[in-house]
Formats: sequence, C-alpha cells, structure tokens
Amino acid sequence: MRDLSSELLAWYDRNARDMPWRVPPADRKAGVLPDPYAVWMSEVMLQQTTVAAVRDYHRKFLGLWPTVRDLAAAEDADVMAAWAGLGYYARARNLLKCARAIVAKHDGVFPDTYEALLTLPGIGPYTAAAISAIAFDRPETVVDGNVERVMARLYDIHAPLPGSKGELTALARNLTPTQRPGDYAQAVMDLGATICTPRSPACGICPWRDPCAARIAGSAPQLPKKTPKKATPIRRGIVYVARRADGAWLLETRPESGLLGGMLGWPGSDWSDAPEPAPPLDADWEGLGEEARHTFTHFHLRLQIMTARVPHDAMPQRGRFIPAADFSPAALPTAMRKVFDLVIVTLRDD
Ligand code: ADE
Repeated sequence: MRDLSSELLAWYDRNARDMPWRVPPADRKAGVLPDPYAVWMSEVMLQQTTVAAVRDYHRKFLGLWPTVRDLAAAEDADVMAAWAGLGYYARARNLLKCARAIVAKHDGVFPDTYEALLTLPGIGPYTAAAISAIAFDRPETVVDGNVERVMARLYDIHAPLPGSKGELTALARNLTPTQRPGDYAQAVMDLGATICTPRSPACGICPWRDPCAARIAGSAPQLPKKTPKKATPIRRGIVYVARRADGAWLLETRPESGLLGGMLGWPGSDWSDAPEPAPPLDADWEGLGEEARHTFTHFHLRLQIMTARVPHDAMPQRGRFIPAADFSPAALPTAMRKVFDLVIVTLRDD
C-alpha cells in the first residue's frame, strides 16, 4: 500500500508556506517546536480569515502582548481595538477569556493535550486539534475547510457538506501519521490552500495526483458538494452619529453579548426588518443620503445614517463623547468604520 502521508510530507518539506508563527520543517525535524501561544493566536485569527489578512494582526498582537501573561493582563478595550477589522469579534472576547483561564488555572502554561485544550474558552475541536498537533506534535487530526475539500477529492466523495463532515473527518483521521503529525496537519492545509484550491485545482503538480480518485473521475473541481444554503436575509438599522462643537464624537461600547459585542460603535436602533428609531440625544438629526452596507455570516446589514452637530453641553442618554484626539477610526469594527467613512464628508472638522 502506498504511504500517502509520507508522500505529502516530502512535498511539504520542499513547499511549506512561510508563516511568522511557523517553525519550518527542517527545524521541526531537529526537534524545535513553535511557541504554543503564537500557534494558538494564529489559529484563532485564521478561523474565517485569510493568511494574508492575519499576518499583520498576528505581528501586532505578539508585539503588544508577547506572552499569554501579557495578554491576560491587558485591558479589554485595548484588545478589542487591536482586533478591529478582523471581524467575528466573539473570537477576541474569547481570546482574552482563554488567556486569563490559562494564567488562572494553568499557571500561564499552555495545556498540551487535546482534552485539556478543549476545556478552555473559545477552543473548540478544530483549534484543540490544531494546537496539540502543531505546537506539541501530537497525532491529532485537524479538519478545516481545506482538509474537507482535499479528502472529498482524494476519495471522490459526492455526499454534500455539512452532512458528509463525519465521513471526511474519519478519512482524514485514517491518514494522520504518528510521525510528524504537526507538519502533516499543516501540509494538508497548505495543499488545500495552494494546490487543491476550490475552483481550479492544480492537479498537474499535486503530490497526491496519482492516487486522487476525483482527478481520475474528472470530478475534482465540483467537489466538495454542498447542501444549498437559504438565501441570506437583509436586516436594517439606524445609527446616529453626533459630533460635538469641540469635535468630540458620540460613541458607545456595545453590550458584551450579541453582534460586535464589546466593540466601539455608533449608538443606534435594533437591527431588524423594521428598526425603531432610537436617537441617543435630542438634536436636529438629518438623514445622510447614503446607507452603509455590511455582510455578517447570517445576514446583510443596511444602516440608515442620521447625523447631527450638537452643542458643548449636549447630554446623551446613551454612549459617551470621545474627544477627536482620542478617537481612532481604526478601533471601529468594519461595519461601523463604513459609517464613519460616509459621515466624515459631512461632519468634517470646521
Ligand atoms: N489555516 C489555518 N491554520 C493553518 C495552518 N496552521 N497552516 C496552514 N493553513 C492554515
């Protein structure tokens, strides 16, 4: 029988992508393992986000908070502001919770088993498997979207996702080697990201070209099949952007639970089919002609924008005025940043 995992590892030795949190295969073979803190940070950031987008954020986070103890001691608002723009903000809240749990319950040392990692906030089966394989070289099977696609093609599985997830995971587990499982996990993900890509896989240069059942059947570009999703609904909201005579902006920290929880944002209505107006103070609110649009995982959001210039003594019922000198639009989540980019034309400094 051919040794599929060895063939893939030989490919990885020559083609591993360079990533700041990675230890190259030659060094890993010499016994060097990466910092689990850096690996954990990368895996949390890479959920739903591309490697290209993650690089700079990873560098920023490790620069600001070089160890898990530093991160655990950080102010919530600083971490949320540093995360702004990466999206899926529950990840940032859980990142902090997890860092604090590692300090409180594990004396600042990352647990090194799948089971122990799984008990930590924000660490699910994927991340627990990724950290234990990559940072501790344990033979766990790491299954992300790339790995699902590679397995569906290698074995020509036509059953659609998400229903086929269990079957694809079992196939992936069956291939996971006991030697170099950390490199192997990264190798399958790299293969999926660089060669076995969704639309036009580069089968000609694939290390699994010969054994790939979907290549032989000609079905590779159509796999994995997916059960059609329901159409994404549209929700609407109203945001209120008030600028005080001294240039300060009215903002609020959003409630911890719920979308964009813990992030800075413009006060506003609920997000629904028919949002109720909810001005945060009495003012001459004027509608901005344009709306801000942003897509979340489960819905498209359309924000109607109201603006007002307000006097020095304005007393908001919600939120707080942040002086212009202390306000950084980069600290806003992208949906709120889009609002800022539209209103700044109207509410520019006089
Ligand atoms: N995607 C998520 N984690 C990854 C990793 N460790 N290597 C390659 N791609 C990834």
